[in-house]
Amino acid sequence: MLKRLFHTGYSRVMSLLLLLLATTGSSIGQSRQVINFNPDWWFKLDSSQQYIDEQRGEGWRRLDLPHDWSIEMPFSANSPAASGGAYLDGGIGWYQKSFKLAKADSGQRIFIAFEGIYENSEVWINGHFLGKRPNGYIGFEYEMSRYLYWDGRDNLLSVKVNNKNQPNSRFYSGSGIYRDTKLIIRNPISLTSNSTFIRATQLNEKHAVVNLSLEIEQTLKEAKTITVLTQLLSPDGLPIASEHTVLAKFKTGLHHIQQQISIDDPLLWSIETPQQYMARVQLIADGQVLDEQNSKFGLRNFNFDPEQGFTLNGKRLKIRGVCLHSDLGALGMAFNRSAALRQLRSMKEMGVNGIRTSHNPAAPGFLDLCDSLGFVVMSETFDVWKGHKNPYDYHLYWDQWYRRDFVDHVKRDRNHPSLFIWCLGNEVQEQWHSKPDGIAIPIALASIVDSLDGTRLTTIANNELSKANPVLMSAAVDLIGYNYNHKKWASFPKDHPGRKFIVTESTSALESRGQYDLIPYDSVRMWPERWDIPFDGGNKDKSISAYDHVFTPWGSDHQTSLRLMEKYDHIAGMYVWTGFDYLGEPTPYTWPARSSYFGIMDLAGFPKDVYYLYQSVWTAKPVLHVLPHWNWKKGDIIDVVVYFNQADRVELYHNGKKIGDQKKDSDRYEVVFKGIAFEPGTLEVISYQQDKRVLSKTIRTAKKEQRIALIAEDDSVSAAMNELSFVHAYVVDEFGTLVPDAANNIDFEVEGDGAKILATDNGNTTDHTRFQSTSRRAFHGKVLVIVSSKNKGQIVVKAKSKGLISGEVHIKVE
Ligand code: GAL
Repeated sequence: MLKRLFHTGYSRVMSLLLLLLATTGSSIGQSRQVINFNPDWWFKLDSSQQYIDEQRGEGWRRLDLPHDWSIEMPFSANSPAASGGAYLDGGIGWYQKSFKLAKADSGQRIFIAFEGIYENSEVWINGHFLGKRPNGYIGFEYEMSRYLYWDGRDNLLSVKVNNKNQPNSRFYSGSGIYRDTKLIIRNPISLTSNSTFIRATQLNEKHAVVNLSLEIEQTLKEAKTITVLTQLLSPDGLPIASEHTVLAKFKTGLHHIQQQISIDDPLLWSIETPQQYMARVQLIADGQVLDEQNSKFGLRNFNFDPEQGFTLNGKRLKIRGVCLHSDLGALGMAFNRSAALRQLRSMKEMGVNGIRTSHNPAAPGFLDLCDSLGFVVMSETFDVWKGHKNPYDYHLYWDQWYRRDFVDHVKRDRNHPSLFIWCLGNEVQEQWHSKPDGIAIPIALASIVDSLDGTRLTTIANNELSKANPVLMSAAVDLIGYNYNHKKWASFPKDHPGRKFIVTESTSALESRGQYDLIPYDSVRMWPERWDIPFDGGNKDKSISAYDHVFTPWGSDHQTSLRLMEKYDHIAGMYVWTGFDYLGEPTPYTWPARSSYFGIMDLAGFPKDVYYLYQSVWTAKPVLHVLPHWNWKKGDIIDVVVYFNQADRVELYHNGKKIGDQKKDSDRYEVVFKGIAFEPGTLEVISYQQDKRVLSKTIRTAKKEQRIALIAEDDSVSAAMNELSFVHAYVVDEFGTLVPDAANNIDFEVEGDGAKILATDNGNTTDHTRFQSTSRRAFHGKVLVIVSSKNKGQIVVKAKSKGLISGEVHIKVE
């Protein structure tokens, strides 16, 4: 450590910095301040009136952002959002926030930055219109300086959000200012937003050359001489190298500079070691730091090859990905870091190494997590281009806005080391209906990527594989992306010689957690039978059997796509539809079903059985998972399925009697013990590797429900990070066995300074109780409670239900 501190690079930086700061001169304001602007807003849902100034009156309520008002709405069969929007209404909402500014900052430039407002936002400051933004997923900022009060009066920010015209999305979008908001105070000489771009122009084991492009804006009348000093900090935070550029007599306007910095023995970013460097850029004049910006970046080499697929830092890596929509289940679209972290962690534990942010730019905080946890991200911008999928979707804004939105997306995200692929569109209508646009749009979008990034590949997600599809055949994109069509994966090298290949979306199998229909395991249900004919079959209660034998006609069961993807080297990887259930798109059903069945985990984040299928194939962690549960009627005939790894065979015992011994067939990822006549009692499975016992698992017939067991996912959470607690409530019998069909209504309560129940969920796609409710029925024995806490101390979560012994769990807030 000491040795590193006295690293020559470091001492050079320090002396330069001291020298620059020692020169005294007139003060020209301070360095950048970025203020969390989420707290203390007013909100009202109102489409009848304008609220540009402070005439608030009745009906306004106080809240903190991020906020999604649709998630607070009742589910309604007649909602114009329809099944895609989870039957939750949009409407027009107004937000207002008052704030004072310090006189000392009056020479500074003040910006309001929104990371995402769905949709059609318009913003005013003190009655002056700042601008509008139709796109609901991309961040933007406005300068407010000219219209602000510095004399102690309140400034009033007013935001109109118009999500009234519905349907405008195929999946749940939420409504409101649902991502973070920041107030940015910048010096008249400062780095512009999202303009810093850091990339390695050379990278090998011994040496890296890092190139920084910077854009600096100067709005003072007089010319200034400034020094742009960049320090690189190693992943453990130590300064390791620096560079400076002097801009003499720097005049009003925008100025671009490039800097090049060498790093010896670079530490590479990978999915196992997602380590990041930091570039600290300072603008210094007259002995003062005028601006300072810290940007993380990662160093990694990668390649896509038509025959060998993807390599990262010289090693082959199958991209084992999942698609994720941006909603966070019961929290709706309101971004929350710890809810996103929970999703990503459970994906990582399952062996997932890739995320597709379908079908829109993700929250910046989500990509930060992908960087620090290590995922191969395919970042997608559009679900529609010019051709529409819904009457009010983005096609309305395409011509006027696509360039601006896409440029902003690329500029915002191009420093994330986890981002490897730009996906320019998903199943766009131009595949079929407009040849000229199908040719021109990929060229236009890919050229934006080339000019602003140039370090990553582009793709488009196609579900139409005919060679008449101009989008599929576009030479403008680097990787050909197939959605589904698994029967055509093997012949890809013949069908598209020399082209690189990724499965942008696969599978679309369907399951309700904990639901098992006693049809033979190997029978197949294709639901719906055809995509273009309404489905009126299925289970009466809108459930779907979780044996991995129900899927859509465009997809497959999980196992089939998984096996093909693993088999062919020319497939760089695939993104399974989807990691989690999401709000909207309750395929194959409609009302009363309101959320999807595609997830490997349910909407509440409880794993479905197929989670363990993937975990057994994608991780080296020993897995042994048995399905279904063991509560049936005497004489029922049950197929028992076992997912396992790290073992060559499993034995199955029913009430102590050996049923059989099985090895996996070479083309299967599971073993099946068919046709077991149910008797109450136990089912025990033991896995062996060359006759050495690896794992064993016993499932029991549950008795009557007796009590509620509460388990917190984490024993302690951080108050500083605004972390949420996720608590599982299980309905169990006297021996602690989960009662698999329990549907008891449970009431929850929380104690603790500032603690609050934000939402409850159970993963049931037809449950119409509002997510904010503190009571919920168990679904297959389980409920999730999401608790927020502001202050240090302890949270106690309590659960009660008529006829059951109550449960309680304690969580430390640190
Ligand atoms: C795909 C589409 C996804 C989702 C999925 C359901 O075609 O890209 O957004 O709708 O089907 O299977």
